[in-house]
Amino acid sequence: MNDTLPGDTAAWQYLEAVLRDVVHAYGYSEIRLPVVEKTELFKRSIGEITDIVEKEMYTFEDRNGDSLTLRPEGTAGCVRACIEHGLLYNQVQRLWYAGPMFRHERPQKGRYRQFHQLGVEAFGMAGPDIDAEMIFMTARIWDRLGLEHTELQLNSLGTLAARARYRDALIEYLQARKDQLDEDSRRRLSGNPLRILDSKNPEMQGVIDGAPSLLEFLDEESRQHFDGLCGLLDRAGIHYRINPRLVRGLDYYSQTVFEWVTDQLGAQGTICAGGRYDGLVEYLGGRPTPAFGFALGLERLQSLLLAGNTRLPDTGPNFYLVLSGERGIARGMMFAEELRTAEPRLRIQANCGGGSFKSQFKRADRSGAAYALVIGDEEATQQTVVIKPLRDKAEQFAVPQQQLMERLRGMLKISRAPDRAGQPE
Ligand code: HAM
Repeated sequence: MNDTLPGDTAAWQYLEAVLRDVVHAYGYSEIRLPVVEKTELFKRSIGEITDIVEKEMYTFEDRNGDSLTLRPEGTAGCVRACIEHGLLYNQVQRLWYAGPMFRHERPQKGRYRQFHQLGVEAFGMAGPDIDAEMIFMTARIWDRLGLEHTELQLNSLGTLAARARYRDALIEYLQARKDQLDEDSRRRLSGNPLRILDSKNPEMQGVIDGAPSLLEFLDEESRQHFDGLCGLLDRAGIHYRINPRLVRGLDYYSQTVFEWVTDQLGAQGTICAGGRYDGLVEYLGGRPTPAFGFALGLERLQSLLLAGNTRLPDTGPNFYLVLSGERGIARGMMFAEELRTAEPRLRIQANCGGGSFKSQFKRADRSGAAYALVIGDEEATQQTVVIKPLRDKAEQFAVPQQQLMERLRGMLKISRAPDRAGQPE
């Protein structure tokens, strides 16, 4: 579980702002959900025989003896909330949420125990058009963030009936090769054999490669749905690779599943994943409702963003206010308030806690501001401000306080240190 220190928050804010922009461009509304839900909800929706439920949940009893769990993902809670608040009666919903998720995994680069997702869920739409819309949306996000080297992998898990037939065929195939399976896979053989296809164990790859392919078992309805989606992606010029081994680590999916993968992040290369989950709403007590969604891993996107050349917008101060003398401090503080009222785009950090000129200029320098504004007793009396450039050798100069506002507006464009320069909002 990570702290995000002040030097890193600008990148997060930028990422969140871009994501919000894009989901709003498609007409999705935000839903805010609790971080804790009943354990049963996750067991039922994600599935008992999955890594998440078997080994990764932060589960505890509250004071009433109820078993609660820190959410390991957002879809289950979103469906629960939609059912509870009647959001799915005779209406479609396009929703998004963002926030921390918790999984007790073995931490490594790109894999954390508290991580953050942006999740997007759509309810009430059964056709491949909504699948395509969501994938367009993700492609647009990469584009806006300037991310390259991302590959879209697609698969269809078919309807429940088709999957049941496939499951039987897979069990038969794996049973015959039981001696080649590792312990985890043997355990999963009867409970959740599809997950065996997702095994990362290199020694298992031979058996997995020879297994029957899910796509051969697809029912007509799923095939048409999948073809419809592929057609829309083709028309939009979005490249994809059909990966028949893509089965996802959560049980609620049916038909379309997809992942966006990058080769830039080492082992944890999946930056976005999702698919269709038509059965889940009904399974959790609602009316049958088709659904589709995905989630992005924000830490992984963040790493990609920082590895690229993205110019992050600057949120640090433009100006540092150096103050001295009793009258200078009082006048300076009030003056800064007046400036902030007149021009909300100005970012002025005032020196508080006193200090010699030398130490104040040191702080001014460290603040990243391009200019110091100096008000001492003398300037307070003469109603002037001294402007001192901090990033070049230019001379300082005095300006009447009345004219300062216009001067500062003019300087805003160039008001930060060159290495962190950016147009203020
Ligand atoms: P998921 O594949 O479990 O799907 O997670 C989605 C994304 O969250 C992953 O692709 C990855 O980028 C990120 N992620 C997962 N675990 C970690 C971790 N331990 N550390 C850092 N990042 C991580 C879901 O959660 C589904 N709820 C997605 C969905 C929404 N399906 C339908 N609607």
